[in-house]
Amino acid sequence: MVLANLDPSQVLRQTILGMSRNDQLRSAIEKAPVSRDIVKRFVGGVSSSDAVRTATELVDTRRLVTIDYLGEDTLDPAQAAHTRDAYLDLLEHLAEAGLTADGTVEVSLKLSALGQALGRDGNRIALDNARAICQAAANAGTTVTLDMEDHTTTDLTLSVLRDLRQDWPWVGAVLQSYLYRTEQDCRDLAHEGSRVRLCKGTYKEPESVAFPDKLDVDRSYVRCLKILLEGAGYPMIATHDPRLVEIATVLAAKAQRAPDTYEFQMLLGIRPEEQLRIAAGGARMRVYLPYGEEWYGYLMRRMAERPQNLGFFLRGLATKG
Ligand code: FDA
Repeated sequence: MVLANLDPSQVLRQTILGMSRNDQLRSAIEKAPVSRDIVKRFVGGVSSSDAVRTATELVDTRRLVTIDYLGEDTLDPAQAAHTRDAYLDLLEHLAEAGLTADGTVEVSLKLSALGQALGRDGNRIALDNARAICQAAANAGTTVTLDMEDHTTTDLTLSVLRDLRQDWPWVGAVLQSYLYRTEQDCRDLAHEGSRVRLCKGTYKEPESVAFPDKLDVDRSYVRCLKILLEGAGYPMIATHDPRLVEIATVLAAKAQRAPDTYEFQMLLGIRPEEQLRIAAGGARMRVYLPYGEEWYGYLMRRMAERPQNLGFFLRGLATKG
């Protein structure tokens, strides 16, 4: 009876998010021989050499790249150090492959994967780990962007951003248009040299902090876009929404922005034809490339955003597994 009153897409979304927390299912899917092939569409492999190879393919087709080493909510200092070391190793490989010059390929970090949730010292541990990665990025000639997680971490992440920017002013951050506070955060960050990636937001947030209606999230995205594009910073427009891409293009022209003063961003495997179209039109187009052993939770979140993708995944398991 209760289920009958629910929006079917919400039920499916919650079911898929439930799958992401089911260890038995996770282990079965991870062991299925075909999984590695299927995840290839959304994940750039498990090792740093896989990530470098995938990034090279994207750069060869005129796309810029930001790479995320998968893993989040670390509750173990050794795991946080492992994540930091994975980034250091990746940046070295990227520089050797000649991919980091002028920020062609940069990296994205989740502070929770670097230890932010490790009790009282968490913020300091995450900041120290992020500092090591920023120094390695500086040596390689590229940039770093801090991903944004759920709303309880927004203030902490923005304070880490301020700390890192003292030494590396090119460190960027993500803002999420579903939060009521984001318009003001955009105003605060729309200054010279500031790199802001604007997305809608992917976490399940309460109505007390975030717009519950999709339409309001989209309207907020447009208001934030205006602030960022009319400001003096470097906006990174992260969306697959064709209407928002079109609106951003018009607003950028109205603000007389040169093509190298902002960029579009999309996730690996999502709307690839649109990515190529934008790049071919002369705009900067960056692809977010996640990689690493921890691909399962990331993949399930992408399925939950668009359950049609689940059909693609299950069909592959049925036909090849
Ligand atoms: P929306 O979800 O409304 O989708 C618009 C259209 O895009 C759909 O109709 C469909 O055509 C296509 N589409 C969207 N998702 C798809 C999918 N999974 N598969 C296939 N097609 C799909 N979030 C966050 O909270 N913190 C962060 O740090 C980041 N970082 C980030 C970086 C980058 C580069 C991107 C592109 C996105 C993020 N996100 C994020 C995720 C973001 O908040 C959001 O959940 C997704 O981008 C989906 O929102 P859209 O803007 O694409 O719109």
